[in-house]
Amino acid sequence: MVDLDQLVEDAKRDFAHAKDSVSLEDAKAKYLGKSGLLTEMLKGLGKLEVELRKTEGARINIARAQVESALQDKRNALAEASLQSKLSQEAIDVSLPGRGRGVGSLHPVMRTWQRIEEIFNSIGFEVAEGPEIENDWFNFTALNSPENHPARSMQDTFYIDGQDTLGKQLLLRTHTSPMQIRFASNKVKEYLAQHGNLDHFPEIRVIAPGRTYRVDSDATHSPMFHQVEGLWIGRDVTFASLKGIYTNFLKAFFENNELNLRFRPSYFPFTEPSAEIDVAFPSGKLAGRWLEISGSGQVHPTVIRNMGLDPEEFIGFAFGSGLERLTMLRYGVDDLRLFFENDTRFLSQFPA
Ligand code: DAH
Repeated sequence: MVDLDQLVEDAKRDFAHAKDSVSLEDAKAKYLGKSGLLTEMLKGLGKLEVELRKTEGARINIARAQVESALQDKRNALAEASLQSKLSQEAIDVSLPGRGRGVGSLHPVMRTWQRIEEIFNSIGFEVAEGPEIENDWFNFTALNSPENHPARSMQDTFYIDGQDTLGKQLLLRTHTSPMQIRFASNKVKEYLAQHGNLDHFPEIRVIAPGRTYRVDSDATHSPMFHQVEGLWIGRDVTFASLKGIYTNFLKAFFENNELNLRFRPSYFPFTEPSAEIDVAFPSGKLAGRWLEISGSGQVHPTVIRNMGLDPEEFIGFAFGSGLERLTMLRYGVDDLRLFFENDTRFLSQFPA
């Protein structure tokens, strides 16, 4: 007769030696598999006499239950061990210092943009934005730069294949000046639709900041840059208004009441007369030099007409200033390209 106690001991020992579930299942097959020791014994019962079959059957079943429970214990132990090793591999060291959350900040040019909006808002100017993909009517023709006019070549830009729905050539706008026409002619149309005439048409006071494009790239020029357009149209808006508004704007922008401004005669197709605005700081690194900061002028009668207004009745001024230029002077940045490299060592010097 087989020593069942010995068999159970052997099985427990084999299971204990199994290092992983594959070898454990192999060991199981030896005892409980299709032709395992216990299985064979159970199969052999049929040959025994009835009485013996009963007692032998009961013994074998007890042994089988013991082997099965030993097997289950080992399975549980292996599963627990593998869980533990996984957990320790994925352990998180809660005592490590945190990485912190990077706090971003506004790009310096965007701060200038916001500052300008605040200043002009405070003196009753609206803020408008327009499309960066323009057509040649708004960008040039309506601004008194007819096709083939030499002034067009002062602003070489990126042309886009194809035309808009009105058959106009598309291009990336070279300046924010097209917003003068877009904004003013919309106001005129809206007003006419409501009132039928322009007898009491209110003044237009607007700035239009935005991105502009030109074929240009060096330390002081980038193919994409920012401008802010200013426009004030009314019935008695004079060059003196331009001087007053722009001088106060610059003093507020640079937080410096001692600034000097100079309006130097210049040429732009859309203004007559035209002036380049220069600024001089009374002290500091830039003291004693005239720095060009903006184009400006009294809006040309042709442009007034293209807004839908009568130049005999309406008059005003416009200016267009570079936001990068204003930002460079305000923070003392000497290379424009720094604004577009996105180097955080540069950008983090302008914390929120
Ligand atoms: N649009 C001009 C440029 O980008 C700047 C400018 C000059 C705008 C005179 C104006 C203006 O509104 O009156 O060079």
